[in-house]
Amino acid sequence: MNPDRDRLLHEMGLGPLWKLRAAPMPAEVPYPSSIVDAPATTPLPGTAAAAQGADWESLAAAVSDCRKCRLCSARKQAVFGVGDVNADWLFVGEGPGSEEDQRGEPFVGQAGKLLDNMLAAIGLRRGSDVYIANAVKCRPPENRTPEVEEMEACRPFLERQIDLIRPKLIVALGRPAAQTLLKAEVKIAAARGRLHEYLGIPLIVTYHPAYLLRNLPDKSKAWEDLCFMRREMGKLKGR
Ligand code: URA
Ligand code: SF4
Repeated sequence: MNPDRDRLLHEMGLGPLWKLRAAPMPAEVPYPSSIVDAPATTPLPGTAAAAQGADWESLAAAVSDCRKCRLCSARKQAVFGVGDVNADWLFVGEGPGSEEDQRGEPFVGQAGKLLDNMLAAIGLRRGSDVYIANAVKCRPPENRTPEVEEMEACRPFLERQIDLIRPKLIVALGRPAAQTLLKAEVKIAAARGRLHEYLGIPLIVTYHPAYLLRNLPDKSKAWEDLCFMRREMGKLKGR
């Protein structure tokens, strides 16, 4: 391995000294029936209407009051997103975990520490030229993957966030984010390393940080993806 690369991986928290491990993802856990208040087959009108034409504040208010999918039942609060609303970079994760649900901010747990290190490795920091959001705004119980219906219900909010931010580049962290943005079946291994597009905005797919915490060998691929993002943003900014 080349020493520069090793040093950079280490600085990102991706090197061999990175000790944190996320708890293994639990197998898919069915909803306890007591918290299910809307079967998945119920039509979910309303989020599109609430999001359409909304300004930033009314969008945030609509999200915090939203009860358009069953994820509303188990949340403490909806997690709208964090950062610079004029950012060139938009990172989209999957959904809040329990710490995010408690604190009302995306990526503040272990995966968030890794995301912050990844941002730092390409000269970015939370809040400055970066916005961070999720495919679903409310925490899925037991950290399970959001269901397609839940992501569909929540998608108008993400779409309106993108309309208002108008980022130069979108980074989809993990498969659910990539699928909801690209409206297609995505395999990260096949989709990473090339440019996709969301309504004319270049989009790059990479591994979710929580996945990287459990899959050490893929961390060097995440590093390649970060280099790719930085290069593409350089081009987009005309440097
Ligand atoms: N994982 C995500 O996808 N989003 C968060 O906000 C936290 C962890
Ligand atoms: Fe509404 Fe999205 Fe929360 Fe579902 S996840 S209740 S659609 S804000």
